Amino acid sequence: MSEFITNVPTYTLNTGAVMPAVGLGTFGSDKYSPEQIAAAVSGAVKSGYRMLDCASVYQNEDMIGKVLDELFKDGTVKREDLFITSKVWNDQHREVRKACMKSLKDLGLSYIDLYFVHWPFPNYHAPGCNGDSRNPDSKPFSVDEFMDTWHQLEELHDTGLVKALGMSNMTVSKLSRVLPLCRIKPAALEMECHPSFQQQELFEYAKAHDIVPIGFCPIGSPSRPERDRCSTDVADMELAEVVTVANKHNIHPATVCIKWAVQRGLCTIPFSVKESQYISNLKCTTEDPLTEEEMDILKGAERNCRLVKGQVFLWPGATDWKQLWE
Ligand SMILES: NC(=O)c1ccc[n+]([C@@H]2O[C@H](COP(=O)([O-])OP(=O)(O)OC[C@H]3O[C@@H](n4cnc5c(N)ncnc54)[C@H](OP(=O)(O)O)[C@@H]3O)[C@@H](O)[C@H]2O)c1
Repeated sequence: MSEFITNVPTYTLNTGAVMPAVGLGTFGSDKYSPEQIAAAVSGAVKSGYRMLDCASVYQNEDMIGKVLDELFKDGTVKREDLFITSKVWNDQHREVRKACMKSLKDLGLSYIDLYFVHWPFPNYHAPGCNGDSRNPDSKPFSVDEFMDTWHQLEELHDTGLVKALGMSNMTVSKLSRVLPLCRIKPAALEMECHPSFQQQELFEYAKAHDIVPIGFCPIGSPSRPERDRCSTDVADMELAEVVTVANKHNIHPATVCIKWAVQRGLCTIPFSVKESQYISNLKCTTEDPLTEEEMDILKGAERNCRLVKGQVFLWPGATDWKQLWE
């Protein structure tokens, strides 16, 4: 029986719900199978994880649902002890309820704790497609189209099928246009965040609007798919600032990234199918905190290095992935 970790920090959402500060990511980066990820979910919950970051596009919600069912049936955990997210994928912005019902069925749940609009564009691309592929039907961000999708999430919230709403892959500019139009404000914002890409302005904006930031790719997504790699990317775990702090604590650079995220005020959702890794990713937030001085050193690790550039979502006429992030 593996170690059981308690006293993981939490955040209280603007809905009043309590969300753990560390969750298990469940995107296998085309490297890990749904079976491996489901086994990691099972092991992680048995180790003390209480948050799972899921999405229909990760194509494993049905396998995760099977292990959740086992965990509920064998009494390991109760549904209300877990905080489970899911996300509507880009091709279902016009049928959010249908998408959510499919996720609920696959996960075997009667409600989702936090339901996201995964990307603010209705631009579909098949999972695993090449980074150069473009869909001629892709469109730039539209406030009206986004709000149409958001209002569908609000209706889902009204039914109780989802307990809180979230946005993901947004920018300050997009948020400032849509937030005044929301009947139900987002409770959380999923955003790429790791030492070499801190998104300080977006982080502060979310905090100022009582939205909990959830950082993805927290340790620099070292196993990300080839299509998401580019020659100018930096490896967070090799940055001098991260290695310096890791050496001071005699810990792995990965756990420096996790500690930094949580101490900064983010929820963080590291992925791993390896027991020793996912246990240390959770445990590190319960002990041996970084000092103020070390947090300052890590501030200096910023390299403006966005890893998930989203280039496959570009619309005809757009040539630079940075246009997605305006
Ligand atoms: N909202 C969005 O659009 C969005 C986008 C991307 C990701 N996400 C979410 O964020 C989650 C995390 O992102 P990610 O998986 O790309 O990146 P990540 O968590 O930064 O990196 C995961 C990888 O880091 C390595 N690792 C994990 N723990 C480690 C440890 N303690 N020591 C050493 N290495 C360790 C593992 O590599 P090896 O397997 O090689 O050992 C693992 O596969 C995803 O699973 C998904 O749930 C959301």
